[in-house]
Amino acid sequence: MTLFSPLTVRDATLPNRVGVSPMCMYSSTDGFPDDFHVAHLGRFALGGAGLVIAEATAVHPVGRISPFDAGIWDDAHIPGWRRVADLVSRAGSVPGIQLGHAGRRAAVREPWRAGAPLDDADATAGFGAWPLVGPSEIPAGPGHQVPAEMTVAEIARSVQDWHDGAARAMRAGFRFVELHGAHGYLLHSFLSPVSNRRTDAYGGSAENRLRYPLEVVAAVREAIGDGIPLSYRISSVDGAEGGLELDDLVEVARRLAAAGVDIIDTSSGGIITDRSSDTRVRRGFAFHADFSRHIRREVDVLTATVGFVVDPVQANLLLEHGDADLVLLGREMLDDPNWAHRARLALGDDSHASWDVRFGSALGPRHRTLGRLAEAGETPLSRFEG
Ligand SMILES: Cc1cc2nc3c(=O)[nH]c(=O)nc-3n(C[C@H](O)[C@H](O)[C@H](O)COP(=O)(O)O)c2cc1C
Repeated sequence: MTLFSPLTVRDATLPNRVGVSPMCMYSSTDGFPDDFHVAHLGRFALGGAGLVIAEATAVHPVGRISPFDAGIWDDAHIPGWRRVADLVSRAGSVPGIQLGHAGRRAAVREPWRAGAPLDDADATAGFGAWPLVGPSEIPAGPGHQVPAEMTVAEIARSVQDWHDGAARAMRAGFRFVELHGAHGYLLHSFLSPVSNRRTDAYGGSAENRLRYPLEVVAAVREAIGDGIPLSYRISSVDGAEGGLELDDLVEVARRLAAAGVDIIDTSSGGIITDRSSDTRVRRGFAFHADFSRHIRREVDVLTATVGFVVDPVQANLLLEHGDADLVLLGREMLDDPNWAHRARLALGDDSHASWDVRFGSALGPRHRTLGRLAEAGETPLSRFEG
C-alpha cells in the first residue's frame, strides 16, 4: 500500500490516500459557506488530494466554536455546501465534511484573537456569547462559561441534530462524513471523565459515557445509509490528569467500529483549555502516528493519522509501515494546496497524467523543459552571469 494507491471504503473510492484534514476557517456568517469556502476547499481537490474534509461544521448554532463557524443546521445551508462538494467531486476528489458540536468549548473568539471566551466587548460588536451545553456543569477552563447540564430530552434532540446535519450533508453531495469526537467538544466531553460527572445513564461507567457518542453514530449512519464512509475523530489520549488514556480509546474505537464507524481519525487532547496543567502530546513529526498504529493493530478498523506529516517520503512510509491507512494534512496543505501533486512527483511519478488535464497538459512539458535545462547546466540566473 502506498500513498497513491486508491482506498475503497464502502461505496467511495479515494483516488489516493492523501486527505485534507478539517480546518475551521471562522469565515461564515450565520453558518453559511460562501465563495471563500468554494475556493479554499476546491483548490485542494484541484491540487490532487484524494479526500477533502470540510471544516468542523456545526449541527446546531449553540455548537459553534465561534460566531463565524460554518454550519449545517438549516436546509438553507445546503446550496452553499453543494457548490463545495460539486467542485471537489468534479476535480476527482472525494468531498467530505466534518460534523461538529463544540459543547462547553463553544462561544470563543477566532484563534487569531487568542480563542478567548467571548466577552462584553464581543457582545457590543454584535457577536456575544450564548448559553452553552455539556454533559455536566464543568467549564472547559478558566474564564469559560459553565455549561448547562443537558437533560435526557435535550440529549435526544441533540442526537436528532447530528442525524439531520448528516442528512443535509448527503443532500449537498458529500460522500464522506467525519464526526468530530475529539478536542474536548461535545462528543469527547461525554466520553471523558474529566468533563462528564453525570450520575444517569449517560455518565459514570465507561459504557455510560460512551452512550451519547454511540447514539450519534447510529443516528448518523441511519442518515447517510450504508454506502457512505463514516470517520470518527478521537482524542487518542486526553492529556489531562484523570483523563482517558490510549487503552481506553482502543476499547472506544472497537465499539465505534462495531456501531458503523469505518475510520478512526487519531488526534489528541483538548479536554481542558488550561495549557499550564495539560500534558500535551509533543509536537514532533507525525506526532499521532503511534496512536494510529496501535489502534489499527488492536481493532479491525481503518485509521487515519494527522499531525506534522510534511514530507512525501514520510507520508508514504507511514502507510507502508502500517502506521495508518490514510494520511491527513492540515497546515501543510494551507502552505501548499498542490502538496499531493508535488508528492507524486517527489515519489517518482512525473507523468502528470493523474493531474487535472488542464494543469497536467501544461505542466508536463514544463517539467521536462526544466529537466533539460538543468541537465544543460542552465539556471534562471544564467543570463545575468559572466
Ligand atoms: C486553522 C486550523 C483549523 C483547524 N480546525 C479543525 C477542525 O475544524 N476540526 C478538527 O478536527 N481539527 C481542526 N484542526 C486540526 C487539524 O485538522 C490537524 O489535526 C492539525 O492541524 C494537525 O495537523 P497538521 O500538522 O497537518 O496541521 C485545525 C487546525 C488548524 C491549523
